[in-house]
Amino acid sequence: MNAIEIKGLKKSFRGMYALNGLDMTVPIGSIYGFIGENGSGKSTTEKLICGHLVKDAGSIKLFGKDYTDAGVRARVGALIENAGCFAGSSIYTNLKMQTLNLGIKNADEEIMRVLKIVRMEEHKELKFKKCSLGMKQRVGIAMALLGNPALLILDEPINGLDTDGMRIMREILVDISQKYNCTVLISSHILGELEKIATHYGIIRQGKMVQELSAKEMEERARVFVSFKVNNLQDAISLLKKKYANVKEEFGYARVYDEENVDEIVKYLIENNIVPAEIKKNKVGLEEYYIQLMSQKEGE
Ligand SMILES: Nc1ncnc2c1ncn2[C@@H]1O[C@H](COP(=O)(O)OP(=O)(O)O)[C@@H](O)[C@H]1O
Ligand SMILES: [Mg+2]
Repeated sequence: MNAIEIKGLKKSFRGMYALNGLDMTVPIGSIYGFIGENGSGKSTTEKLICGHLVKDAGSIKLFGKDYTDAGVRARVGALIENAGCFAGSSIYTNLKMQTLNLGIKNADEEIMRVLKIVRMEEHKELKFKKCSLGMKQRVGIAMALLGNPALLILDEPINGLDTDGMRIMREILVDISQKYNCTVLISSHILGELEKIATHYGIIRQGKMVQELSAKEMEERARVFVSFKVNNLQDAISLLKKKYANVKEEFGYARVYDEENVDEIVKYLIENNIVPAEIKKNKVGLEEYYIQLMSQKEGE
């Protein structure tokens, strides 16, 4: 059984497909990074799962049941667009209203539970309008966590946050996943940030899933490469190409792919009067993997 299983999902707006037969599988317990360019259909997918939009075709299953099942609906929490809070009310009051709305018993206990998860216990009396963007996002997550959902859906929660805000958000999301056994679906275009926490990825393009893979599979697929910063980049590249099969100029570096032996490459460069100023051995990260995947698909 999976937390989310989507097959052939379609949704159009004014005759234009936003989703054109999307398939998606989110394993239970995963932090699923849902990645795609602006307009690729991430928010539409999340809104359909949450019932904020009505689908044209396809099926959505949550924890093995149709997504309209009332029991299963109660296990989904979401933050899409904004928290829907009253600006002039305190964080606590906003959460209190939501507990009334959801019919949650032991409201005070539940509010303190979710405030603790998002690390906002000390700020509970702060008016929502006085919160920073990062705090507003965390209040939104607290709202979504009321009632202890088994699946949390977040639309670009990291967007616009500063480095510190991102770090706190990352820690909170890992906590939610690991300590509270909640599956987390996060859409984002900030790939580097997702890479630090995601256990699975789904890459969407023009309303279709291009690829789904686990972080482990991604790690295995990631190619190793050695980068060189040199004064005479073009000379270095033509020289390297004589000896190595996969040489590219990327981000101002000469890169030799699929080669582990740094010493040998450096020796070869120096013998040919090219002295590298900087040498880095690396693996293709999520961002580059994504760019490569996208350029392959475009070429087809
Ligand atoms: N309510 C709407 N009315 C008309 N078009 C929409 C609406 N919502 C989304 N779209 C269109 O659907 C496509 C997918 O949008 P969206 O799901 O928001 O993408 P993403 O979240 O990946 O940026 C875009 O072309 C967008 O313009
Ligand atoms: Mg969006």
